[in-house]
Amino acid sequence: MSLKNWDNKTWLSSQDYINSFNNFLIKQIKFNKNSKILDIGCGRGKIIGSLSSKLKLKKMPIGIDIEKHKNRDKRIILKNEDAIKFFKNNKKEFDLILLKQSIHFFKFKDIKKLISLCKKSLSAKGKIIIFTLETNKNEIPAFSLMKKKLNKSMVRQKKIIKFLSNSSPGNVKKKFSFKVKISKKKYVKMIKNRYISTLLKLQQSEIIKGIKEIEKKYKEKIYFNDKLICLILRK
Ligand SMILES: C[S@@+](CC[C@H](N)C(=O)[O-])C[C@H]1O[C@@H](n2cnc3c(N)ncnc32)[C@H](O)[C@@H]1O
Repeated sequence: MSLKNWDNKTWLSSQDYINSFNNFLIKQIKFNKNSKILDIGCGRGKIIGSLSSKLKLKKMPIGIDIEKHKNRDKRIILKNEDAIKFFKNNKKEFDLILLKQSIHFFKFKDIKKLISLCKKSLSAKGKIIIFTLETNKNEIPAFSLMKKKLNKSMVRQKKIIKFLSNSSPGNVKKKFSFKVKISKKKYVKMIKNRYISTLLKLQQSEIIKGIKEIEKKYKEKIYFNDKLICLILRK
């Protein structure tokens, strides 16, 4: 099963979230109209599509995703392929290579390969910006089994961040946080749609049991902070 419902009508696809995320990116990089952007695991590409409009980019940003998502952003060039494969024929240089909540999909040996390929494709002042879920004080609403799986995934994401920080001198770590307010009804629907990768492998019966837990545990409106760790690497 693949990740088709990640940002399908959730806070992750809201203009509020996209604006706030892009404002964060703008603080990290000195963009101009000629900036070249690559987004690895871009999903529908709404984030870089919106960034492109905001910056009035001359060159359309490129997004890579192995999944063919419906309702994709038309303001980007979408490459429907594996990220490592993309670099085989790539001769372009980028000022920003973004990996937002996508690095944990790669095996460890592929992460090493991917980051080294990314570094080769950076412009002189270019930056690779990697976002993963905040591993320590994560607030994602979860039922017990989901929490267990999330924690396991966090351990791996923590290892990835540690490895990348250790192997990239001069890296910078930041945090991004977005206040989410969502109805329990909508969040239950997201769980039903297995919006996050930790839910993909669960049995249907485990999802149903989990939803019952969420129904009991939360009030009509759910409030939490969607927190991300941001790791910035240079060439
Ligand atoms: C959790 S989603 C994040 C989407 C988007 N970056 C965002 O934050 O809204 C992860 C995305 O990575 C994509 N992905 C996973 N493995 C990939 C690979 N090997 N090459 C390219 N994309 C990949 C998935 O299809 C999925 O769309």
